[in-house]
Amino acid sequence: MARRKKLYEGKAKILYEGPKSDTLVQYFKDDATAFNAQKKATLDGKGVLNNRISEFVMLRLAEIGIPTHFIERLNMREQLIKKVEIIPLEVICRNVAAGTMSKRLGIEEGETLPRSIVEFCLKRDDLGDPLIAEEHIHAFGWASQAEVDEIIGMTLRINDYLQGMFAGIGIRLIDFKIEFGRYPVADGHQILLADEISPDSCRLWDRETNKKLDKDRFRRDLGDVTEAYQEVASRLGIIKENPATPPNLSVISNND
Ligand code: C5P
Repeated sequence: MARRKKLYEGKAKILYEGPKSDTLVQYFKDDATAFNAQKKATLDGKGVLNNRISEFVMLRLAEIGIPTHFIERLNMREQLIKKVEIIPLEVICRNVAAGTMSKRLGIEEGETLPRSIVEFCLKRDDLGDPLIAEEHIHAFGWASQAEVDEIIGMTLRINDYLQGMFAGIGIRLIDFKIEFGRYPVADGHQILLADEISPDSCRLWDRETNKKLDKDRFRRDLGDVTEAYQEVASRLGIIKENPATPPNLSVISNND
């Protein structure tokens, strides 16, 4: 098959033209970046694990009625998705203080928040994805009031579901980042959950030990990054092997 046309290359993923005009192929790379790409590495097998974990999460969310861009997984590293116009917002939902919230507000990492909090950042790498207020979104026309209301509602439902899903496998969902896009439909457009949900975009701590099972292992030089992602996949039942054994990614897919 002829190689598809590359449309966009991001820090952790590549988007190719899809087989139909309203689809894309999303390819998960092994590249990891942090601090707005000032820190970079290649982590063997990360893309394969994120492809599988994101597929699993998107399918579960679709089952509870969250519309997503995910159509089907194509192979180890690629999934077919609906082509959306990405809304230029990083939507962050937090249950426990960590990361930039702890730094900004002086709240100790690990302190449970009085309620789940939704934050917005502008998707602008050149500005370091700054935190913005909802007012900015309306004033600058990045999304309408109705879209923002829908996004907040969906984000809180996603948070509720994912908190329960991860609690069931002994993991605390500290926070996560999601993105949304507009997908054309007959009478306008529909807002879909887009991008990915994976240990790259969530903070996941073991309930008993507080061990970090997410990208903070890379950001903070804690080591064993891929092994932690593999443990998440293993606890979700996506891969069958014992996470203590070295990664053998060849066992996690049979249709590539
Ligand atoms: O760094 P910060 O504390 O703001 O991150 C909050 C959550 O959003 C974390 O789970 C982090 O992994 C995720 N995030 C992301 N992409 C970014 C910024 C944050 O996935 N560009």
